[in-house]
Amino acid sequence: MTRPTDSGRRLSESGLPVEPVYGPEAQTGWDPAARLGEPGGYPFTRGVYPTMYTGRPWTVRQYAGFGTAAESNARYRRLIEHGTTGLSVAFDLPTQMGYDSDAPQAAGEVGKVGVAVDSVADMRALFDGIPLGEVSTSMTINAPAALLLLLYQIVAEEQGVAPAALTGTVQNDVLKEYIARGTYIFPPQPSLRLTADIFRYCGTELPRWNTISISGYHMAEAGATPVQEIAFTLANGIAYVRAAVAAGMDVDAFAPRLSFFFVARTTLLEEVAKFRAARRIWARVMREEFGARNPKSQMLRFHTQTAGVQLTAQQPEVNVARVTVQALAAVLGGTQSLHTNSYDEALALPSESAARLALRTQQVLAHETDVTATVDPFAGSYAVESLTDDVEEAVLDLMRRVEDRGGAVAAVEQGFQKSEIERSAYAVAQEIENGDRVVVGVNRFRTEAADEKPYVPLTVDPGLEAAQARRLERLRAGRDATAVRSGLDALRRAAAREEDNVLPPMKEALRARATLGEVCDALREVWGAYEPSDAL
Ligand code: 3HC
Repeated sequence: MTRPTDSGRRLSESGLPVEPVYGPEAQTGWDPAARLGEPGGYPFTRGVYPTMYTGRPWTVRQYAGFGTAAESNARYRRLIEHGTTGLSVAFDLPTQMGYDSDAPQAAGEVGKVGVAVDSVADMRALFDGIPLGEVSTSMTINAPAALLLLLYQIVAEEQGVAPAALTGTVQNDVLKEYIARGTYIFPPQPSLRLTADIFRYCGTELPRWNTISISGYHMAEAGATPVQEIAFTLANGIAYVRAAVAAGMDVDAFAPRLSFFFVARTTLLEEVAKFRAARRIWARVMREEFGARNPKSQMLRFHTQTAGVQLTAQQPEVNVARVTVQALAAVLGGTQSLHTNSYDEALALPSESAARLALRTQQVLAHETDVTATVDPFAGSYAVESLTDDVEEAVLDLMRRVEDRGGAVAAVEQGFQKSEIERSAYAVAQEIENGDRVVVGVNRFRTEAADEKPYVPLTVDPGLEAAQARRLERLRAGRDATAVRSGLDALRRAAAREEDNVLPPMKEALRARATLGEVCDALREVWGAYEPSDAL
């Protein structure tokens, strides 16, 4: 929503002035060729492909994962039956934090916010009956991203899938974990080394794999404005590219497989402007700062998820309208892949029927509207082009402030991004509190509690944790302990040598059925574990 000011002009989510009327004066001296380029051409303002959705619709990619690998496998098969065109794995917190399901730190969290994966056996069950050579799979995994990527590749090899055919994405974006999400394991420098190791490994072994999903979503969900979301995300992207170049990699050898992940808010016009500005900025950064020559290195390809934080628990059916507008913003902004939230997610993990409705919402946009009939329909719009220019200018200014602090990693260690986002979040909370920001059903247009339908949330099977622990016992009893030990020793040696790539020895240890917790513990022994007090 645009917020009123005393002067009667309105401010956007980023605090930018929004004119009640834009006219031709907004584009005096404005050069469309330089500012926009052609669709699929530098600076990609109009989209990364010449034909965009007229050539291929965005990937319908619903984030899902819950309980055991078998339960999640069943959900993926149903999503494929309902028409999803890409998979997206949610892992439980122990997996994301590098602990086995039977570790003390895992108690109460096994299978709760995603699927529990401890070993190659779980990964095999997760994709049982799903041909990995025919799907693209995103995995929301950061600190242990290398492990889950390798487990996925091992299972694909067992299915006979050639590495060159394997496609998907690991999120692998630890910097935003320090800023906004919290599932980090190792300190920043070894984390950046591991990220660069994944870039190098995929460059030679898995050429179609997207090695990172540099994420603004979680910072947005923590309260970042659209300008902060883009500025901090692109600054993180620059830090990753610098780390890979410093590790001796040629920018065009890895940059084509970088990808991004943003939110789509209900404020559609500013969101469309945000996506268009982000593409133009990234294209320029890659060409001018890093000398990238391959157009694919300059293309900002991204996934979008509708704004979870804008869902309401009150009158949850109203969320269908919010998600539809947000999904439309992502599509009009040129997303490559999209997740639409289920209307009941403000209450608990999505029910089957709500997850299906979220999927159908995308299918209505893709098949019943005309948004796939033409590329970047807002091009030339007085309002959206002005907003695109304004967002771009504000993002560049904030990126300079990050650079003045020594770049994204140094700024993280100073707590800069975190404090800026917290300030924005507080302002929004105050606006809702004082009624300046309308949230339908929450601070206006409320209904009586009696009208609300009782909601029965999905719950984790209480026997799940014990069952997963038994599976681990069987795995450890049935494997070659000597092979596991020597695999973990080789991994420790590689981790201790900066010039080595840790993924090859890691893969052999995982193939010998070392568990995720054992591999992460071996790396903790060498690299240590990140403690926020280390940096601030
Ligand atoms: N013309 C020509 N070619 C086209 C085309 C067109 N119009 N449209 C698509 N294509 C081609 C592409 O070039 C690509 O070919 P390639 O694989 O050989 O390069 C192929 O078709 C697939 O197209 P995209 O790569 O554009 O689409 P994908 O869906 O495969 O990939 C992505 C999209 C953004 C690049 C990828 O990184 C991705 O899928 N990301 C998803 C990330 C994700 O799902 N994250 C979930 C996060 S949930 C979370 O964090 C937790 C929660 O708390 C929020």
